[in-house]
Amino acid sequence: MNHFHLRDGVMHVENVPLPAIAEAVGTPVYVYSRATLERHAQVFAEALAGLGGDADGPLLAFAVKANPNLAVLKVLQRQGYGADVVSSGEMRRALAAGMAPEKIVFSGVGKTAAELDEALDAEIGQFNLESEEEGIELSAIAAARGVEARCALRVNPDVDAGTHDKISTGKADNKFGVPIGEAPAIFARLAALPGLRLRGVALHIGSQLFELAPLERAFEKLGRLIADLREAGHAITHADLGGGLGVPYKPEDAPPSPAEYGAMVARVTRGWDVRLVFEPGRVIAGNAGVLLTRVIRVKRGVADPFVVVDAAMNDLARPAMYGAWHDFAAVTPGDDRMRANIVGPICETGDTFATGREIERVGSGDLAVFRTAGAYGATMASSYNSRGFVAEVLVDGDRFATVTERVPADAMMGAERVPDWLA
Ligand code: LLP
Repeated sequence: MNHFHLRDGVMHVENVPLPAIAEAVGTPVYVYSRATLERHAQVFAEALAGLGGDADGPLLAFAVKANPNLAVLKVLQRQGYGADVVSSGEMRRALAAGMAPEKIVFSGVGKTAAELDEALDAEIGQFNLESEEEGIELSAIAAARGVEARCALRVNPDVDAGTHDKISTGKADNKFGVPIGEAPAIFARLAALPGLRLRGVALHIGSQLFELAPLERAFEKLGRLIADLREAGHAITHADLGGGLGVPYKPEDAPPSPAEYGAMVARVTRGWDVRLVFEPGRVIAGNAGVLLTRVIRVKRGVADPFVVVDAAMNDLARPAMYGAWHDFAAVTPGDDRMRANIVGPICETGDTFATGREIERVGSGDLAVFRTAGAYGATMASSYNSRGFVAEVLVDGDRFATVTERVPADAMMGAERVPDWLA
């Protein structure tokens, strides 16, 4: 069931025609489908139901970094999801969306003392410690307050996830976690500190994974670590398997399905006797959103024409940053096609969404979308070229709402000051 579809020749999100959103909110604008978010959340949950040795099933902690919009988090909270957060800003969003503190997992290599303090205040479910140094610091803060922080030690399993280098996180030279070989000794030292209840282990090897084999290798290593830790007398009750499942960006892409992923997890984790935690991001939000844009004009090129759209790399950074592909589709497509370079208005060649791409013919003033923009889209936006921050809309059946107002460039200018001594 696809909630982004043509009806009477016009692309709709659920029952709302995209031109109506462009008219009301302007472009560029991210448009999310509530039904799609819910469906993805349910399919992922069903694929893992029954795993993890807990009556409630595993803890599903949505990776807030993928789409931190409050309304999106609210949709997922209503589906029973918790949150994987990497900053106090993300933690506050998860709490504001009504996620239960015990369903919040705090990851990240650079948690500051102030953030650790705030997370203890909020009584979040679990700190995923990324280093011994972080554990020592958290121990001191928690012990001084007379509380115990529930912790998992994040390990780096030294597995190549086979994805883009910039989003690989599980190789030995990446900054994440502690080397798995050193984990037993580090775990033992941290477990002896006051203020910490070291109850589990965690890993996350990368994002947009198209192969289950690297995940399986990493999980097998984690299973052996759990056995070793138990043998050394530690009580291991939780294992956090991270996120990373890839999504299709092109029609021909065929990432593993949540069901295949779930079957692999079931096989590898049999007998672990822990509560499993998952941190899915892209697989929930990626295909639940598009970036709606308007063609400013079509400019002649030497080989192919340039379709200049009003969205740019500051609104959707993935093509410029990772060479990522986002399908481009006209909102009111005709039968004609064209070969074009799709570019934004920003003053660098990196502001290119596609080169020599076969697309439906579009002209000045036409609306179009970049698909699969629901994850790592708006959240990675900037105001480069003083373009302001892009708006976001959530569709629900026949209705839609602006869930993030466009932040105009003037608002950014309003935060700036010219010091007296320059006036
Ligand atoms: N857990 C941890 C600790 C993570 O670092 C991440 C993603 C996730 C979970 C969620 O991974 P997912 O299920 O979404 O693959 N900006 C990049 C993606 C960066 C991912 C960073 N970590 C992109 O646009 O492709």
